[in-house]
Amino acid sequence: MKSNSAIYKVFIATSLDGYIADINGCIGFLDIFPAPEGDDMGYNDFIDRVDAILMGRKSFETVLSFGIPWPYTKHVFVWSNTISDIPEELNSKVTFVKGNINEVIDHVHQLSFYNLYIDGGKTIQSFIQENLIDEMTITTVPVLLGEGISLFANSNGLKKFKCVANKIYPNGMVQNRFIRI
Ligand SMILES: NC(=O)c1ccc[n+]([C@@H]2O[C@H](COP(=O)([O-])OP(=O)(O)OC[C@H]3O[C@@H](n4cnc5c(N)ncnc54)[C@H](OP(=O)(O)O)[C@@H]3O)[C@@H](O)[C@H]2O)c1
Repeated sequence: MKSNSAIYKVFIATSLDGYIADINGCIGFLDIFPAPEGDDMGYNDFIDRVDAILMGRKSFETVLSFGIPWPYTKHVFVWSNTISDIPEELNSKVTFVKGNINEVIDHVHQLSFYNLYIDGGKTIQSFIQENLIDEMTITTVPVLLGEGISLFANSNGLKKFKCVANKIYPNGMVQNRFIRI
């Protein structure tokens, strides 16, 4: 259950037609228009404003598949009801959480993390369905994928947001920050 001091934020990139990955779960479209040299497009500022990350199991597996050094500076909770084995080298950096959304939230809050970056399509949708997302930074990549994993599938009725910041990057991407009203 969400506590009054909890804040849940999204920072994600989508295609023009609202997909976060193609039909095969690939995110190659994110690299079509490379980020401006030396510009992280707001990522580090965003990460500084959260206590921990809660991501879905599929996003976790995607990150592992990159074969790169662990990229996160904040503790990562991975939501899964099917796996619980943490790679040994990530023991102090990753915690698996299971159950329904309230059980997952309770688990994370019990460990004193309240300001969370929510990541992964199904995971974000689960929070959206309960109208729990307080802030969304969405970077739009100007491509149409036609099909894929939709960010806002099953968003379950009207939810209102207000755009509080926007920026057009030289690479043609557009970033909007919304807060829930
Ligand atoms: N464009 C971007 O910026 C961006 C960012 C992040 C991710 N992605 C892409 O998005 C894709 C992953 O998104 P996704 O939608 O497939 O999955 P996801 O949210 O990353 O992971 C889904 C898994 O999380 C657990 N889960 C999430 N919500 C749940 C709920 N309500 N109840 C029970 N379990 C729940 C389940 O794990 P179990 O099945 O183990 O129980 C579920 O299968 C990847 O291709 C990734 O590359 C793109």
